[in-house]
Amino acid sequence: MVSRPSRRDLVRYAALTATGIVGSRSAIGDAAPQTKRAAESPLPRNFVWGTATSSFQTEGALAEDGRGPSSWDSFSRLPGKIRNGDTAAVATDSYHRYHDDIALMKAIGVKAYRFSIAWPRIVPTGCGRPNAKGLDHYRRFVDALVEVGIVPFCTLYHWELPQALEDKGGWANIDTAHRFGDYAGYVADGIPAIGNYFTMNEMASFIEGGYGDGSNPPGLKLPLKQLAQCRHHAVLGHGLAVRAVRARAHGPVAIGSAEVPFIAIPLLPEERHVAAARKALLAENAWHLTVMHSGKYPEAYLRSLGSNGLVFTAEQLDIISTPTDFQGLNIYYGQTVRATDDVAGYAIVPRPSTYPHMGMRWASIDPDAMYWGPKLFADTMGISKIYITENGCTCNDVPDDTGVVYDTDRVMFLKTYLAQLQRATRDGAPVAGYFLWSLMDNFEWLYGYTARFGIAYVDFKTQKRTLKLSAHFYAGVIARNGV
Ligand code: FCB
Repeated sequence: MVSRPSRRDLVRYAALTATGIVGSRSAIGDAAPQTKRAAESPLPRNFVWGTATSSFQTEGALAEDGRGPSSWDSFSRLPGKIRNGDTAAVATDSYHRYHDDIALMKAIGVKAYRFSIAWPRIVPTGCGRPNAKGLDHYRRFVDALVEVGIVPFCTLYHWELPQALEDKGGWANIDTAHRFGDYAGYVADGIPAIGNYFTMNEMASFIEGGYGDGSNPPGLKLPLKQLAQCRHHAVLGHGLAVRAVRARAHGPVAIGSAEVPFIAIPLLPEERHVAAARKALLAENAWHLTVMHSGKYPEAYLRSLGSNGLVFTAEQLDIISTPTDFQGLNIYYGQTVRATDDVAGYAIVPRPSTYPHMGMRWASIDPDAMYWGPKLFADTMGISKIYITENGCTCNDVPDDTGVVYDTDRVMFLKTYLAQLQRATRDGAPVAGYFLWSLMDNFEWLYGYTARFGIAYVDFKTQKRTLKLSAHFYAGVIARNGV
């Protein structure tokens, strides 16, 4: 059963509609319809339906309340780095307008919100005592979520490294991992209403992009030996944060990471290709999910780094593999894998140029990833609880002359992925929740404001938020507890 909004929510929602902040409700219908069909759903009754955003992509207010600069602040100011020279200075102005964001979620019927805390708001220079104003802000925000019955899921690191730490080497410096642990402890201690944490978002993205190919801050292309050390420091930071949050929290907390792993889709659903997909999963995710869930770097990975390629201790492996409560998987696409007779036992099958994709070239349409991902991670790594921490797509969203975005392409995408998620759950995959990326259009990193991932359209000139067709679709999914 969908919980109905309280009278207070309805009053707030009516006010937003009147001012045009939510809008489009009457054009498409009730965003959060009632339904009697929940009992038929293959998903667990308490399935967590959520939406996701991150602090840098939405907050703006980069110099407010003592926030220190981050590596993304500096990088995005460099000429030519971000499309159209866009910056995150205002983004969706959510630092000031979070009540509007919460009203949007209530209108859709969302039960949980995955947001992130900006490290430089809590520890402006990365070291030292926490900034009271930063903690106060997030405490108010989290309390506002809880007050309307939306469960906060907090990501501690969605790529905002305090610039002062980047100046000392960033993730190439092991000290960053320890400072991350300190910061995680300050949050757990200072914001008691958060019960669910993700330590880091997509290590593979910020390490490979930042220190490997240089596409992201700090824009370095380090040799493999140093790159591998950065990777090691990231997983170490994760483990230290898990321990710090548990040590400092005031009540029970659940914690894991949110990774964008290599997802292997077997070439054909035959046992030899499924076995190859399992091997690929362990090998291709060696330095993050594999070591985090097994406490060991695979031999083949260590060999690939050369002799003395990686410096690590048994104690560090112990910290890295501290048991977690769940694993977050960001699932956008997968890769096709086939069985081979060589030592590796698998090969990645290149995609034909006509393989379909959504608005970005990398966003191939792979609903099968939503089936095989959760299933194989659970089987292969012994993971007993999974959240889909991101899934969604960018589309060419154009409001019609009444302001409505009929994003039928995004609805198609979501419907096909969610159908596979249901199939996975029916086949035993332990998926406990799904967070759609994203609640609303926002600052999409290198693409600035040119790539819209939201189910709410944001007019970046006026900050007006308007539910797209996909938001109405998602509201129905939540109400029925399934597609
Ligand atoms: C993911 C990021 C998220 C957003 C989506 C589109 O890789 O975690 O911040 O940019 O892609």
